[in-house]
Amino acid sequence: RQPVDSPLYPLLSAAADFYRHALKSHPARQAAVDYLKGRGLSGVIARDFGLGFAPPGWDNLMKHMGGDSLQEKALIDAGLLIENAEGRRYDRFRDRVMFPIRDSRGRVIAFGGRVLGDDKPKYLNSPETPVFHKGQELYGLYEARKNNRDLDEIMVVEGYMDVIALAQQGLRNAVATLGTATSEEHIKRLFRLVPNILFCFDGDQAGRKAAWRALEACLPSLQDGRRARFLFLPEGEDPDSLVRKEGPDAFRARISQQAQPLADYFFRHLMEEADPATLEGKAHLATLAAPLLDQLPGANLRALMRQRLGEITGLGNEALGRLANAPTNDV
Ligand code: CTP
Ligand code: MN
Ligand code: MN
Ligand code: MN
Ligand code: MN
Repeated sequence: RQPVDSPLYPLLSAAADFYRHALKSHPARQAAVDYLKGRGLSGVIARDFGLGFAPPGWDNLMKHMGGDSLQEKALIDAGLLIENAEGRRYDRFRDRVMFPIRDSRGRVIAFGGRVLGDDKPKYLNSPETPVFHKGQELYGLYEARKNNRDLDEIMVVEGYMDVIALAQQGLRNAVATLGTATSEEHIKRLFRLVPNILFCFDGDQAGRKAAWRALEACLPSLQDGRRARFLFLPEGEDPDSLVRKEGPDAFRARISQQAQPLADYFFRHLMEEADPATLEGKAHLATLAAPLLDQLPGANLRALMRQRLGEITGLGNEALGRLANAPTNDV
């Protein structure tokens, strides 16, 4: 997945040190400290996740890492410096709270940086580099596993702050995709580590859309014995805002009482797409569902969900089997 060795690793690690020290001692640090405190983060959790501060200015990191043109070239490769069309080089991350992204061995491979205010973009992430492939990495996975090698369930959330706020409240098993949709690769990776995945996205339209995409990404990996669940949050909340508002016990209770098994969410969602009260709706529902169910590798869950589809639509196994093998022509 990643090169065993690369000259970029020590650069990224040195940059993480620089940002971390800046959060402790740079003259302009107070705004960042106040920002993190304002979001309820403790110093301990900030240290755990290696949070830092990229000071304002165009060349703080460049000056600190110093050196010749070759070194600067390497910093560009690492995604830390940008070179514009005129050949001018400058720090990518400026005046932002910095979240180091680590690989499963704990090596820093990239950064996310958040503005302290309402500027855009809210988050700036490292570009793809030889050591960072966005669609494969999960923020917080190293930290979650470091704390518990025998995790039974991993929670997938949207954002850096969701992961960290949950961890601070004792829910130390959350990871985030990095501003991308949950991919089949993410899921494969998680199911190699744990038998259970819980998705908990933001309580908004984007979050609900992300949940369905995550369901689709799960289907090819959902062997019998594995489980995926979905927790939907109240409108306007995300895991960070909610766990700070109601505390870890209420959040845990929410998970145990409201998390929906994938199969339940699957049918509930499709019944919103196609109304099973009419024959046309039933036919449409079967057309949508059958090819998806066909992707399930677990023979038992596949059979049970087909049976459920049969109950909803009144179609027998034979008709549904034909559908599953038919080319998909809609959605
Ligand atoms: N994201 C990103 N670039 C953006 C906006 C979002 O990469 N311009 C990613 C970040 O990883 C972010 C996640 O998508 O954490 C979820 O986005 P959003 O819900 O908008 O942000 P929050 O994490 O809730 O941000 P915050 O609580 O800090 O305002
Ligand atoms: Mn790539
Ligand atoms: Mn969001
Ligand atoms: Mn948020
Ligand atoms: Mn959010």
